[in-house]
Formats: sequence, structure tokens, C-alpha cells
Amino acid sequence: MKIEFRNDPLTELKCAVLVAFGFEDNPASSGTVERLPSGTRALLDELKAAGELTGKSYECTLIHHPEGVAAQKLLVVGAGKKEKFEDAHLRRLSGTAVRYLRARGVHELAWLLGRREAKAGIQSVVEGAIVADYDADTLRTERNGERRIDRLELAAEGAVDDAARAALERGRIIAEAQTFTRELVNEPANTLTPTKLAKSAEEMAAHFGLDCQVMGSQEIRDLKMGAFWAVAQGSDEPPKLIVVHYTHPEAPASLVIGLVGKGITFDTGGISIKPAADMHEMKTDMAGGATMLGVMQAIAQLKPKVRVIALVPATENMPGGNAYKPGDVITSMSGKTIEILNTDAEGRLVLADALTYAKQLGCTALIDAATLTGAVTIALGNITTGVFGWNQEWVNRVLASAAATGEKMWQLPVDEDYRDLYKSAIADIANTGGRYGGAITAAMFVGEFAGDTPWVHLDIAGTRWSNEEKPYRAKGPTGHGIPTLVHLLTNLA
Ligand code: BES
Ligand code: MN
Ligand code: ZN
Repeated sequence: MKIEFRNDPLTELKCAVLVAFGFEDNPASSGTVERLPSGTRALLDELKAAGELTGKSYECTLIHHPEGVAAQKLLVVGAGKKEKFEDAHLRRLSGTAVRYLRARGVHELAWLLGRREAKAGIQSVVEGAIVADYDADTLRTERNGERRIDRLELAAEGAVDDAARAALERGRIIAEAQTFTRELVNEPANTLTPTKLAKSAEEMAAHFGLDCQVMGSQEIRDLKMGAFWAVAQGSDEPPKLIVVHYTHPEAPASLVIGLVGKGITFDTGGISIKPAADMHEMKTDMAGGATMLGVMQAIAQLKPKVRVIALVPATENMPGGNAYKPGDVITSMSGKTIEILNTDAEGRLVLADALTYAKQLGCTALIDAATLTGAVTIALGNITTGVFGWNQEWVNRVLASAAATGEKMWQLPVDEDYRDLYKSAIADIANTGGRYGGAITAAMFVGEFAGDTPWVHLDIAGTRWSNEEKPYRAKGPTGHGIPTLVHLLTNLA
């Protein structure tokens, strides 16, 4: 999608469709519709009186030959209640316009910016448009995804400054990072093996000037990653440990952020095998890893003054002849022994060793993202990511970035009293804490390996994927978490 500013007057701005939005109660005169000439607004008033234009969220009204503007058509998108409006809503509005118009064979649109549009607003419009222009049906012969928007013009009033251009660029970078992640999450496990995931990471890193190392079975064993290896040994596909480095020359030496992402390319459950229904969804069990790779792609372009290392332990969880078994006791890289009670609690095992290694590489603050538990989806549904951590200051930073970007995240507790749930009679700890409080005990298990290092865990099991098509986003992988983490990393100083 080519995106450019235009500042011609509306009487001269030739385009297929001009898009404006209007708020509920006043959809003909509040919102960016107020920039439209009076003739068009009179028509909108008529539509409003007839009940055809309400301004309710995502309502789309297409008008042919609007009076006094050079565009062939005008699309008015409903923006909902004005009091509740935030910049982040613009993402959904531009996204709604993109999906509505794509479905009607339109390939170009001009988005009417508000008077003195905030920079965050420009970023949101761009992000929303690119995010909406994605469809998951990549392997269909006749794709929805082929009905793409080729051109988005941002119709500004007056001169466009450097800050506005930077906001456009930032929106594009973040949305394209989400597309990269969504494509990985969407790819079936028969082609997206750990080897292919590592190859994608290497290609991304080479393209954006990052340093990437990929370690294989021998190195994983040499590093004594007994927990990661236990999961990997049941599969014929070789595991990979993907490590991507980003260092800004002026980054303070005292802060090294470790981003650890769960990279299970398919989770059968192993010997504790999952039921057949919905097992296909487990091709998405590498979403945490894909999220961290997407974040690296974005910061490679945005260049914040920090040092970041992303680590993705990638493997299948299979019930092969050499698979680990319930009752096994394994020794993690940290030296802690773990009794396996359920081989389906594999994510925390690969994260345990990756976190230990992250600390060994010098990380001073850690964030992990993982499709870790079904329990978090029971608690928060597919809407909100579960946030966990002992270090409240570090948790607060993540929550503040989530709030700033409009991504829904909610803190759930970690507490010593839950520790008893995952104690083992024969090893240091057990790998499950039972059904109750499952998202919490899983998070705490992972946190045991972060130790005293500030750490935040994001359980994205619910938010990685949307089973519902929205007016502003296709059904399928979401890219959730990337805007928040990019905001965090670019606002650390
Ligand atoms: N990958 C799953 C969690 C999951 C469930 C992700 C649904 C996305 C959607 C994870 O490895 C898992 O199987 N967790 C178990 C843990 C249990 C065995 C303690 C779960 O949640 O049932
Ligand atoms: Mn599992
Ligand atoms: Zn899993």
C-alpha cells in the first residue's frame, strides 16, 4: 500500500473515494465531516433525518457524486460516541473504510484528516489501514487478500511537517511488523517448522540489518537446556533456538531487554495428547515467538536507543517414540529439576531455558510472550492479554504502553500462596499446578526462571487469533502485543 500526504483543496483532490467520519448524534457535522463543503453536509443532514446516517460505530454510508468535492464518491464512517473517542479508535475507523471499500472493488482512497490532526492520529490511521488490508486466506486460489488497497492518501489541511511524516512512517512500520507476525502465525505447521521459522527470522534480520544466530540440537544440548530438549525430543523436526540482537550505538550499557517468545510450531500436547477438536489451532502456538520477531523488525527501523535481544525457542511438541513422558524428571539449564506431570504444559519448559539463557547473555529486564494457557482465555476471552510479574514497576510500564496504544491488557496476580500448587514430591518443581488458577501457576512457573531479574509475562493464548471477522480486521491472526511492546521499547529513556 502506497501512502502519501495530499494537501490540495477538496474541490481539487481527485480520487476514487474520499473518506470522512462522523460522530453519533451529529454525524453530518461533528467529526472530519465538518471539513466537507456545505452542499455535501446538507445531503448528510437529509440522510440523518431519514435515519440512514446515525454515526454508530463502523456504520458505512457511501455517497456517489458528492457536491463540491472532486472525489467520485464519499464514504462516511460512523465513529460512535464523541465523548468516548480516542486516537486508537482511528485505527478501527480507517480499517473499516479499507475493508468496506476493498470488498467493493475500490483500490484507492483518500482519508480526510481532521483540522490540526494529532501525530498519534496520523499514526493510527495508517496502522489501521494496513492492518485491515490483510486476509488470512493466502493459500486459496481465489483470495480475498487480492482485493488490496494500493493507495492511501492522507488529505491534510495546509502544509505537512516532518513530525507528520514521521508519524506516517511509524504507523507503517508497526503495521507491517504485525503483518510479518500474522503471516508466520497463520502458516500451517507442515510448512512452518522450527527450521522454517528460523529461516524467516534470519531473512528478516538480514533485510533489516539485525544480527541473528540460530542454534540447533547439538548446541541446545551443549547448553544443557534439558527442559527445552525434553519437549523437542518427541519430534522428528529438529528444534532451533533463534537469537536476534538489536543494539543502538548510544544505548546505555546498564539496560539490556530480553524478549522471549514461545515458539512451539505445533502443539499436539505430546503423550498427554490433546483432544482432536480444535487441535488444528495449535499451529498458532508459536505466536509469542512471532510477536517478538515482529517487534525486532519494527525497532530495527525505528532505532530506539536501547539494546534488545529476542530469543525464540522453537520446536514441535509431538508424541514420537522418543517423547518425554508424564513422570519424567528433567534438569533445566538453571539446574532446577522439574517433574513432568503433563507433557501438554510444554510452553513453560521451553521458556524456562530461554529465560535462563537470556540472563546468561546479559539481559537485565525480561518480557516473555506466549500462548501459554487455555485458562487465560477462560479468564479474559479473546479480547484481553493477561499480564503477570513480580516487579510492579516493570509491569506498570507494560500496562502504560498498552493503554497508550489502545491494546487491551490486564494484570492478573502472582502470589507466593499459589506456589504450593506446583510443588513436586521428587523434584524441585512440577510442570503443572492443576486446573484452578492455571494461567497464574503457569506464569509463576515461568517466573521462577526469571528469578530476581525484572520480568513481565504476557499470556496471549486468547488474543493471538480472532475467530470473528470484524469490520476493521479479518478473522485470523491478530498481531496483538506488537504495538504495546514497540511503544515500550521506543519510550524507555
Ligand atoms: N498451547 C497451549 C495453550 C493454548 C490453549 C494456546 C488454547 C492457545 C489456545 C499450552 O501449551 C497448553 O496446552 N496448556 C495447557 C496447560 C495444562 C496442561 C496445565 C492448558 O492450558 O490446558
Ligand atoms: Mn501444550
Ligand atoms: Zn502450547
